[in-house]
Amino acid sequence: MAPSRFFVILAILAVFAPSILATNYIVGDDEGWTTGFDYQVWAQGKMFVVGDNLVFKYPKGVHNVLKVNGTGFQQCAAPVGTAPLTSGNDVINLATPGRKWYICGVAKHCAAGQKLLITVKPSIAPIPGPLPAPSPSPLSASSAAPSPSPTAECSY
Ligand code: CU
Repeated sequence: MAPSRFFVILAILAVFAPSILATNYIVGDDEGWTTGFDYQVWAQGKMFVVGDNLVFKYPKGVHNVLKVNGTGFQQCAAPVGTAPLTSGNDVINLATPGRKWYICGVAKHCAAGQKLLITVKPSIAPIPGPLPAPSPSPLSASSAAPSPSPTAECSY
């Protein structure tokens, strides 16, 4: 029995387990980060935990992502000097617990509803029910579809 080895293993688990269990949330799922979408409905029922990531997907240049506070969220205004994320595939690591507010800073998009408020939980709590199964990649699904003949390809 080597208790020290046990604690080394525990320490390794403590370091790596959160990254293994971290969830990437595609904001808006298939719709991405856009106008005309209710992000509060999207966030409902989701449990955001420290270590998870938010991924904002949008056509580069059409939208952006600004992290603001509660006031900025309500007024759709970011403090002067707030640097927007503009890559179109912006990954935000939820490093601390608490409320997080994000808005689009382009034109009147935020006023039109392009804003997201979430609450991040401090640690991983037991999840009731089964873990969600990983969704199959759409690429592998389409490539796995049987094609009756090589000449049967659709052309639009
Ligand atoms: Cu926008």
